[in-house]
Amino acid sequence: MEHLDQLLKDAAAAFAAAADMNALEQAKAIYLGKSGSLTELLKGLGKLDPEARKSAGAEINRCKSAIEQALEARREALRMAQLETQLAAEALDVTLPGRGMGRGGLHPVVRTQERFETLFRSIGFEVADGPEIEEDWFNFTALNTPDNHPARSMHDTFYIDGAKDVLLRTHTSPVQIRAMQAHAAKFKDLDVMPELRIIAPGRVYRVDSDATHSPMFHQVEGLWVGEDVSFAGLKGVIVDFLQRFFETDDLQIRFRPSFFPFTEPSAEIDFAFMSGPNKGCWLEIGGCGMSHPEVLKHGGIDPSRYTAFAFGMGLDRLTMLRYGVNDLRLFFENDLRFLSQFQD
Ligand code: FA5
Ligand code: MG
Repeated sequence: MEHLDQLLKDAAAAFAAAADMNALEQAKAIYLGKSGSLTELLKGLGKLDPEARKSAGAEINRCKSAIEQALEARREALRMAQLETQLAAEALDVTLPGRGMGRGGLHPVVRTQERFETLFRSIGFEVADGPEIEEDWFNFTALNTPDNHPARSMHDTFYIDGAKDVLLRTHTSPVQIRAMQAHAAKFKDLDVMPELRIIAPGRVYRVDSDATHSPMFHQVEGLWVGEDVSFAGLKGVIVDFLQRFFETDDLQIRFRPSFFPFTEPSAEIDFAFMSGPNKGCWLEIGGCGMSHPEVLKHGGIDPSRYTAFAFGMGLDRLTMLRYGVNDLRLFFENDLRFLSQFQD
């Protein structure tokens, strides 16, 4: 049986030498395959007499299971090695810093808008809304703007191709008409209509571009309709708002006589700080006035009974002043290095 011991040694050595599963299967065939050494030995048993066959058979089978064990052990070793290589290749480096989720923030113009809304809500104004793609009638005609007014020209207004009398609103004033019509309809059965007090912030569009003009910009419309609404009230509301908005009384506000078809009398609101780096630099921030009787009529409101004041302010201009930015176009270039400076 010595040669069986030798066979086992050889098989174990051949298995150990097999570097991968393929080589191992080939080595297995040499010993355990159909015409492998052990199989041949088993076939040879038939030639022995029964006594010898029994003991030889037992020896050969012992040897066979020893070889099978060696084979299985090597298989397991190769599997482990393969797994280790794979794990090493796929390893996660848990010490790498995460990509993280950048924290977003509100655009500075949106912050101004929210501040505007909070301050006006605190004195009883509601926030109204209207479409940015507007009808010529609401944007101009209902606001008493004559057909030949320069604002109606293609130089100043973006018209919608193929749609007659439809344009990108040039100001938030059309919301005045929509709000008055809705209010008048809602209270048509009452003897006295409750006061209407709204602001309407939103995007507006003009063919315009320089350091203080952008083709898309933001306005906030204001409207107060009631039985004794006056220019004095208008001035009070505007001055009080600006002092609260800028958190200082150290500012100058000028109501400069002007003209709008939808108000009479009309004024531009000019603004300047009285101290600080921009001391004394005047900037027009809005227009205002007492609503023209024709405008009240188009809104369904009786001008012999009610009066109103209205204003329209540039939100982007207020944002420039609040943060000391000298070119308004910076707000719309979406450069995060610029925009992220305005977060708390
Ligand atoms: C108007 O648009 C009137 N609808 C305002 C008004 C409302 C008057 C109610 C009376 C009653 P104006 O064209 O002046 O007026 O614009 C108002 C403000 O919007 C300006 O003072 C300015 O602050 C801002 N503004 C105007 N054009 C631009 C622009 N291209 N870019 C940025 N801001 C602008
Ligand atoms: Mg103006």
